[in-house]
Amino acid sequence: MSAAPAIEWTVLREEATAVAARAWAPYSGLQVGAAGVTDNGVTVRGCNVENASYGLTLCAECGLVSDLHRHGAAHLVAVSIVDGNGAFLLPCGRCRQLLYEAGGPDLLIDADPAPVRLDTLLPNAFGPDDLPTARTGPQQRASGREGAG
Ligand code: THU
Repeated sequence: MSAAPAIEWTVLREEATAVAARAWAPYSGLQVGAAGVTDNGVTVRGCNVENASYGLTLCAECGLVSDLHRHGAAHLVAVSIVDGNGAFLLPCGRCRQLLYEAGGPDLLIDADPAPVRLDTLLPNAFGPDDLPTARTGPQQRASGREGAG
């Protein structure tokens, strides 16, 4: 029997808080940092980047998912999202969907008093398996369910 590696939540929170300091958030004033770890032990990070046209704002989780792919798109297993003071934030609706593609329903999201599974924040999610031609994303690769094309 192989045990999953323990998640170092304190370290993830510190990483997320550090990256929040790099956020570009002059419009909302809310700096957000996200740090996550993959099933092969890589730490990925992102911060929010706002834009004068508001609607083009990138959430911290967008940057994190981009960083994940930069590292080869392994399966995401745990994420911590915080503001500039290190206080927990839960992902917005769009980012719950983004994280679902990267980590699946059992992705752990840091929260108070304890981490929560993504499927408690996004139950009955729409995902790659609902498409007629399954795409080969991190979730499929990690579970060995390769797409047809
Ligand atoms: N924000 C994130 O970075 N992630 C979320 O999940 C929620 C919101 C950012 C976007 C915007 O720059 C600021 O927080 C206020 O909405």
